[in-house]
Amino acid sequence: MFRSFPAMAFRTRCPVLDPAAFCFRPSTDLRNPETVISEPQAKVTLFEAAELLRNDEVVAIPTETVYGLAANAFSPAAITKIYATKNRPQDNPLIVHVSSLAMLEEILPDHRIPPIYLPVINRFWPGPLTIILPKSDRIPAIACNQPTVAVRFPSHPIARALITQCGFPLAAPSANSSGKPSPTIASHVISDLDTKIPLVLDGGQCYFGIESTVLDALRSPPAILRPGGVTFEALKEVLGMEELQVYKKHFVDVQLEMTPTTPGMKYRHYSPEAQVVLFEKPIPLGNGLVPTIDNTNCKGFELSTMVAMTILETDIESLRSSIAHEVEQLLSAGNRKFGILRTSSSSLQDITKNRGSTFKSSTEFTVVEKFLGSALHPEQVAHELFKCLREMDAQGMDVILVEGISEDREGLAVMNRLRKAASRIVTM
Ligand code: TXA
Ligand code: MG
Repeated sequence: MFRSFPAMAFRTRCPVLDPAAFCFRPSTDLRNPETVISEPQAKVTLFEAAELLRNDEVVAIPTETVYGLAANAFSPAAITKIYATKNRPQDNPLIVHVSSLAMLEEILPDHRIPPIYLPVINRFWPGPLTIILPKSDRIPAIACNQPTVAVRFPSHPIARALITQCGFPLAAPSANSSGKPSPTIASHVISDLDTKIPLVLDGGQCYFGIESTVLDALRSPPAILRPGGVTFEALKEVLGMEELQVYKKHFVDVQLEMTPTTPGMKYRHYSPEAQVVLFEKPIPLGNGLVPTIDNTNCKGFELSTMVAMTILETDIESLRSSIAHEVEQLLSAGNRKFGILRTSSSSLQDITKNRGSTFKSSTEFTVVEKFLGSALHPEQVAHELFKCLREMDAQGMDVILVEGISEDREGLAVMNRLRKAASRIVTM
């Protein structure tokens, strides 16, 4: 007789780790920096995480962008666990994280960094920039079923120290269940992956709140495949990046559309449980500053550029009436709980304050408002966006109404994520 025992459920441990306990010497050397750990307990926790990773476990770690679900990039068994844990489609390749240029060279064919990337690395690493590089056999096919590999050198002290301690690069996608908004605090990871992973290192809220910029400079001209923490404006300043383009904004590549490697194109992304309605400006046609792509590895067609705009006082009336109209429709479809994510100070308050005069319908409904940040400070909006989307879900909203912002600076990444999260986009 055999008795079957239920699988032992374990809680995911989530120790707090102070990023200030780690620093790197010499601070300007990226070739082989050494980690200095000032707190004994931080050292114990870091060593424990490294040991799990050495044993092919996955561990969630803070980075300066979002939390990552890390595993040994050289181990097919460990990488299989990443895909299974977050239910990620097998054909969506992972970013490999390094903590020194020596480690980067180790994973490149001929140990050589393509010269086009040197000024970019010099300026933005360590930091929220991922670059597309030729792949060598050291990276297993399961991590990256592509001739290229995406690599990043994070600046977050905990991520850097952990990779250095491991001595091997870490493959890490964002540590959310596939399709959900990326986690920017440790409790987001727990709410998606509790009991599925042994450890989350809680390093507090991520500094940027949106994922890294993915840059492909193996193409000519270089292109941002996914806007993120390093802005288009800043990258364009760097030697070799003068002709930089943004995918979907300046060109579309039919070939890229068919592969999962253009971040976010093939799969559902960043979606909370509630449906998201995004209010944004129309894209004015004919104002494009857009080059036509005609080289062979980049067959594109011309798109108009979204002209950067912020919501001005004069726009607020039209925003208000668009939202009121939308809410009426959503009410008749049975929705009763509305979350509003504001980026300007006064645009949406009438919904809560002057409900009687704004709405024809007498149906009762509730409204929860959150301030994402000022439309004039897109970095604030980026910092709060995923967190606020998740908070709206936690409060059981049926619908989240979000104000769009201009595509200037971090606004490009914010609008990219919002358009992917939105089930409906209302242009005004
Ligand atoms: O900030 C970040 O980048 C975070 C943190 C944890 O580092 N990571 C992250 O990973 O956002 P993930 O897997 O959620 O997004 C990586 C994106 C994917 O959409 C993938 O398609 C793309 O990078 N990617 C990976 N390898 C690629 C390649 N060889 N060519 C083009 N795109 C690639
Ligand atoms: Mg992701």
